[in-house]
Amino acid sequence: MLPAAILSLSLLNLLILGVGSSTSEAPPATGGPPQLQQASSSLGHPSWSLGLRLYQALRREGSYTNALISPALLASSLGALSHAAKGTTAEQFLELLKNAKVEKKAEEALSDTLKSMREGNGTSYTLHGSTALFSKKVPTLEKSLLEKLQAQFGMGHVALGAGGKQADMKKLSSWAKGGLGGLEGSPLTEGPDAKEGAMILANAFHFKGFWDRGFEQENQDLRSFLGTKYTKVYMMHRAGVYRHYEDMENMVQVLEMGLWGGKASMMLLLPFHVESLARLERVMTLEQVEKWMGKLSSMSMALSLPRVNVSSTLSLQKQLAALGVADAWDQKVADFSGLSSQGKGRLHLGGVLHWASLELASESGSKDGKNEDEHLEKPKLFYADHSFIILVKDNNTGALLLLGALDFAEGAALHDEL
Ligand SMILES: *[C@@H]1O[C@H](CO)[C@@H](O)[C@H](O)[C@H]1NC(C)=O
Ligand SMILES: *[C@@H]1O[C@H](CO)[C@@H](O)[C@H](O)[C@H]1NC(C)=O
Ligand SMILES: *[C@@H]1O[C@H](CO)[C@@H](O)[C@H](O)[C@H]1NC(C)=O
Repeated sequence: MLPAAILSLSLLNLLILGVGSSTSEAPPATGGPPQLQQASSSLGHPSWSLGLRLYQALRREGSYTNALISPALLASSLGALSHAAKGTTAEQFLELLKNAKVEKKAEEALSDTLKSMREGNGTSYTLHGSTALFSKKVPTLEKSLLEKLQAQFGMGHVALGAGGKQADMKKLSSWAKGGLGGLEGSPLTEGPDAKEGAMILANAFHFKGFWDRGFEQENQDLRSFLGTKYTKVYMMHRAGVYRHYEDMENMVQVLEMGLWGGKASMMLLLPFHVESLARLERVMTLEQVEKWMGKLSSMSMALSLPRVNVSSTLSLQKQLAALGVADAWDQKVADFSGLSSQGKGRLHLGGVLHWASLELASESGSKDGKNEDEHLEKPKLFYADHSFIILVKDNNTGALLLLGALDFAEGAALHDEL
């Protein structure tokens, strides 16, 4: 009976969280309870509530095949769309970006984030991030607004040709490849079927972090990774002092690893035992993540991480609709009259496509290569040879740059040996 009780409790948490972030409460006035203020300084960025709710909606379907999203990039492009929309169509986008604890206007937070991402690029990480609005047989769009969306949100505009679905997909995929910095994204399983008047929002995001201290080549070896498929992958090992928390109740280890130069950090959530991520995902609410972050403390650790590339391509229409974006898809009610005054009754959103990829590599950002293991007494083990969750947080703005699940690691199958 205990697991069921835990499950319903955490579902309740989720519901409370959902309701909390969708009411139109004003942010707390100055002089509010100190706890609340402290909370707002950590996960108050709109990308957090959007990212966690969207992630839950995606994973609830139960296809455990690696999923990655960039909540920061998605939030900024939904912010851009809200400018093109009016009435309830616009309100539904803004509602998603609202956070009960937000300090700044969502819009300001989003443009600060794009700036911060450009600043961190080339020091703590290499990052590619692109957003475009594709359109299919639409009336002439308002040029000044398109320019504004480009300047403020980095959103480009691409017209799709008169060809069919296949031609559209080809154009979208080749755009994504450019957006990922030349990498081939995962194939899209269900592409949108763009009708006349459709607009497709597309994001492409690639991230490679550079560790504060890297993993030496001689400390890497081929081992088993026990994900939803059992594979052989290179594991990287090192010892050092890291911020860590062991949550006995939820049976998960939480580890924070700083990236070089301190512009961002990566947090890993690793269940104690080999299992699917479903259990952990049910408890991973905004409140819980905040709690975990608050409990991290510096500890001697011996880390083992897989050296892998993770990527996913997602169509987010169904999940965004479940989170309240209802009008944008419907030709009859969608109001994108900010983009075209003749567009009413036709102009609508035909899809939201999200390409993302992450490289978990061994390099440090430091050029002097001081990576040697520290000598530590009885380090705590963090042995990531099974599915875990990855979060990347921007230090400057607090934005959630990346959120994803590594359900399995690409590598030679292991089944012959079992
Ligand atoms: C990050 O830097 C690379 C070059 O190293 C560049 O190609 C890419 O566009 C930059 N990303 C952003 C978001 O500016
Ligand atoms: C990280 O953020 C903190 C708090 O905002 C700031 O004091 C610190 O300078 C930042 N670190 C870097 C390397 O930007
Ligand atoms: C990950 O991708 C990069 C860039 O394509 C490649 O250089 C690297 O070898 C890949 N790593 C693994 C473990 O496959």
